[in-house]
Amino acid sequence: MDQDDVDTGLRPYSDVTKPLSPDDERRLALIDAIPVMDESTPLAAQLAVDARRRIELAGQKFPPPLQTRVFTVANQKGGVGKTTTSVNLAAALATSGLRVLVIDNDPQGNASTALGIEHQSGVPSTYDVLINDVGLEEVVQESAVIPGLYCAPATIDLSGAEIELVSMVARENRLRNALASYLKGRSQRGEPRIDYVFVDCPPSLGLLTVNAFVTAREVLIPIQCEYYALEGLSQLLNNINLIRAHLNPALHVSTILLTMFDGRTNLAQQVAEEVREHFPDQTLRTAVPRSVRISEAPSYGQTVLTYDGGSTGALAYLEAAREIARRGVEPRNDYAQVGSGSDSGTRNEGDQQ
Ligand SMILES: Nc1ncnc2c1ncn2[C@@H]1O[C@H](COP(=O)(O)OP(=O)(O)OP(=O)(O)O)[C@@H](O)[C@H]1O
Ligand SMILES: [Mg+2]
Repeated sequence: MDQDDVDTGLRPYSDVTKPLSPDDERRLALIDAIPVMDESTPLAAQLAVDARRRIELAGQKFPPPLQTRVFTVANQKGGVGKTTTSVNLAAALATSGLRVLVIDNDPQGNASTALGIEHQSGVPSTYDVLINDVGLEEVVQESAVIPGLYCAPATIDLSGAEIELVSMVARENRLRNALASYLKGRSQRGEPRIDYVFVDCPPSLGLLTVNAFVTAREVLIPIQCEYYALEGLSQLLNNINLIRAHLNPALHVSTILLTMFDGRTNLAQQVAEEVREHFPDQTLRTAVPRSVRISEAPSYGQTVLTYDGGSTGALAYLEAAREIARRGVEPRNDYAQVGSGSDSGTRNEGDQQ
């Protein structure tokens, strides 16, 4: 990787806000102490880049959003990194001082597994919230390894919910109502605010995904940098438009994350370029590389942040999370939302239709 491509993030951000803090000064001094490697020694260059990123990101506190930000992580294409992105971004934000809830809205229960959250049949789950009017506060579990990271688990029961929801009253609003009353209840009980919510969706556009779209204000689309990556995207965007027109005027695609990126292949580069061309404002600068550590972590019931926090994959998710967090405090953006899809709110300038 070209070192110039790495956004250290420290200088530009600090320049426009406030003078460098002593902590930032210390980090910059350490970063400056690492020798610059040229491309004749690619491995050494990569190690130097990672060392800089580690120094810069370790223990950094991210700014809290103005209000709770609710994301639906969706792509009807399977295996593109929805769950991996949900849990690792959530872990990155939580380890950086924010409070994060992951709602596992996929019967596969992969997000619950990756977060090490109990989700065998019978455990109170998203299914009970959607179908049995159980409050989210009764199903949410806190991660044993990352304080401030919570998960509403999915059990296999959720696979029946698509059909059971069909005949229910206000079937598209059930998750939204549950989240709104959970967030309100926390505030009434004097519990600290949840800063971020990620709803991990199944690879389909059925009622579970519709519920997630009605719940969130922001959609995060992970795109795998492979052939066919953009196929199906227009269908996804059409669906989002339909939801916006009929059920949730505030919904918009705020974030696109390139996943499983392999910079050595022309194909990945081409896909990345095409995505950035179509979605210049939404696509994060950080692309998540293909990484063995990322794929290994779930089998240990862990996110890559705790499994191997210094790995390239963990650093990429930390960087992506920092980009998201910083966008959330920029005054030009209106990302804030508290469990309500009914306000038409102004949308991000760069929204794609
Ligand atoms: N950056 C990465 N590097 C290597 N492997 C990855 C990466 N991101 C995801 N994977 C692996 O790719 C597979 C699919 O990822 P994931 O489960 O997150 O996709 P998904 O979109 O949630 O899938 P589904 O549509 O089935 O819900 C998993 O085995 C995961 O470990
Ligand atoms: Mg998944």
